[in-house]
Amino acid sequence: MLAKQLHLVQHPCMPFSRSWQGHSDCLGLRPCTINVRHYERQGLLQYRPGIARASIQLHDSSNKDQIEQNGAVAALGVALEVSHVSKAFGDKQVLSDVCLEVPRGSFHMLVGPNGCGKSTLLRILGGLMKADRGMCHVLPPAGFVFQNPDHQVVMPTVGADVAFGLGRYKLKEAHVRAHVERMLEAVNLPGFARRQTHTLSGGQKQRVAIAGALAECPKVLLLDELTTFLDGEDQKGVLEAVRNCVGGPDEVTALWVTHRLEELEWADRVSYMDNGRIQFTGSPREATVYLKRLGAHV
Ligand SMILES: Nc1ncnc2c1ncn2[C@@H]1O[C@H](COP(=O)(O)OP(=O)(O)OP(=O)(O)O)[C@@H](O)[C@H]1O
Ligand SMILES: [Mg+2]
Repeated sequence: MLAKQLHLVQHPCMPFSRSWQGHSDCLGLRPCTINVRHYERQGLLQYRPGIARASIQLHDSSNKDQIEQNGAVAALGVALEVSHVSKAFGDKQVLSDVCLEVPRGSFHMLVGPNGCGKSTLLRILGGLMKADRGMCHVLPPAGFVFQNPDHQVVMPTVGADVAFGLGRYKLKEAHVRAHVERMLEAVNLPGFARRQTHTLSGGQKQRVAIAGALAECPKVLLLDELTTFLDGEDQKGVLEAVRNCVGGPDEVTALWVTHRLEELEWADRVSYMDNGRIQFTGSPREATVYLKRLGAHV
């Protein structure tokens, strides 16, 4: 049955965010995330900016699938669901019937040999690529951070870079500055807003990229080999930054792809991928036993 009424609450830290927390009668009053601007553009929702709560009447059933899709994922307590996803490039089958569920507010690591399809799966989850078969649900909005921060940190100063994505909202400068500072604190770079980005270490740059992704209050962070080029200290700083952002009142979820098996102890759950399939999912301790059995040095 279509929701007649959506009860929405603005995102606690981003009154201008596209994502509101909401629940609806069709979802049994469970929380879900609603892309307000999407519905607004279609004339389905009206709300007054600046108010903290709204109850919104839906006039049309055309968005039933999207409401139920996002709502169903949220209602299951899952931030990210991959169901029988396959992908081939030419005659090379890269993903074969991949299934994965990541609970909301958890730090999930994905490991596996070179070329087994980890980045391809992340790109599909981030909407950068389409699967040939299967379905993915990711709670919106999702933020993507890549291996090389030079591809993502492009502005001359840290503050300008973290604020980059906020440019499309009409925000007061003081609001943006305060928000940027909060994001920098979240990644343990307080007071860095005026720093020139070219003076940062690799790990600091990676944390600026994470702060930039966090600035838009993502529900899910997709993180592809952030620590490959980092030494031990920078690696720990980036892991700490992500660990601190995960969970919390917003139940931020992180899917972290890595080759560095010493990082597994930071995760809540670990999946091992090989030959385009998830071969194993378990706790870091169980993953260590599994990987040792495969001959890995963990
Ligand atoms: N756009 C593309 N076109 C053709 N082949 C591709 C494309 N993207 C990835 N591949 C191929 O798909 C396979 C999986 O690549 P992917 O980048 O997903 O692996 P990965 O597990 O992330 O590897 P790594 O650990 O080295 O980053 C590789 O053989 C790769 O060459
Ligand atoms: Mg990769």
